[in-house]
Amino acid sequence: MPKDCYTVRISKKASQFTESVIRDMTRQAIQHDAVNLAQGFPDFPAPDAVKLAAQEAVAANINQYAITWGAQNFRRAIAHKFEQLQGVPVDPEREITVCCGSTEAMIATLLALADPGEEVIVFEPFYENYGPDAILSGATPRYVTLYPPADPDGEWQFDPAELRAALSRNTRAIIINTPHNPTGKVFTRSELELVRDLCVEFDVLAITDEIYEHIVYDGAIHISIASIEGMRERTVTINSLSKTYSVTGWRVGWAIAPPELTSAIRKVHDFLTVGAAAPLQAAGATALGLPGGYYVELAEKYAERRTVLLNSLRTAGFKAYKPSGAYYIMTDISSFGSVDDRAFATHLVQEIGVAAVPGSSFYSKPDGGSRQIRFAFCKQLETLNRAVGNLQRLRRT
Ligand SMILES: Cc1ncc(COP(=O)(O)O)c(C=O)c1O
Repeated sequence: MPKDCYTVRISKKASQFTESVIRDMTRQAIQHDAVNLAQGFPDFPAPDAVKLAAQEAVAANINQYAITWGAQNFRRAIAHKFEQLQGVPVDPEREITVCCGSTEAMIATLLALADPGEEVIVFEPFYENYGPDAILSGATPRYVTLYPPADPDGEWQFDPAELRAALSRNTRAIIINTPHNPTGKVFTRSELELVRDLCVEFDVLAITDEIYEHIVYDGAIHISIASIEGMRERTVTINSLSKTYSVTGWRVGWAIAPPELTSAIRKVHDFLTVGAAAPLQAAGATALGLPGGYYVELAEKYAERRTVLLNSLRTAGFKAYKPSGAYYIMTDISSFGSVDDRAFATHLVQEIGVAAVPGSSFYSKPDGGSRQIRFAFCKQLETLNRAVGNLQRLRRT
């Protein structure tokens, strides 16, 4: 073979998934100068106290590696907050791993706890990372459908019989995301108890992504499945600073799990990233100590934005599902004719001036979500109002 012959080859794992559609939509928003309601990052500043704490940490020379599984004061703050809010005592020395965002916490958890050949249950539509996460860890995702409500003010539901049927001897874990991206579903206590019963019966773990825990509406209450009797010892609770404190660029998150599971997660985390940014962990301890009023105000501000975007989308002709939590609105585009989600999203970003995410990026099958589009409302009111103005250009068929 000649010396300059070079075969381009990528791993089978990497070839099984595509680039993030959400992040691609952000690039398109910039290219077409559209209002970016695609990616879920706030365009308003983080709280001053939190920003100041980060500046002070850098100035105080907290600039070297933190302990690989997280700075002690930050882990203590995480344990304290979880116990206060969910009544679950956590040992910060043995049960917490600080990671680079909940994104790393999820992949580190799956790599540490699931084996090739095992299955993980994912509710569909799902936050787009879970599919690739399962593939990278060698596990096989099994999808259970969340059905949209007939009344768009209602709640997305799964069929308990379908969830049961998806479980088998090969199941390693059920991934829960509550409040849920993209549907806004907040899992109720009775739904979580049903999941608990199945986790116990089939001896599987729950891995729960709770990064929208404080963003709930209309009296909805966020419940951590770890707080439900029988689940503490079989749950990995994943969270991060990103959404609660509007610092998605900091990349600081964590996983709370029983000591044996945490040891494995810590090992994987160490070799994946070594650790999250030390000064930002110091600032994280300040963030987690913000007074309760901060979280009330956060939810109120998002509730106002939800109303603005929901009304605008409904006026423009979308069937817009009212979220009970998180900061997205999932919509059905059927009233705009037979156009599919990708073509519609392209039209929106290029001609209408609003970037949103095609529904299919939240589904495993290519035709899943083909009539759906997701909009994010974690934006300043001025930004949302620009989007509202642009959406008025849309024409129904
Ligand atoms: C459900 C869900 N999990 C995780 C993430 C990413 O979180 P992080 O910034 O902590 O990695 C997002 C971001 O949109 C999300 O919606």
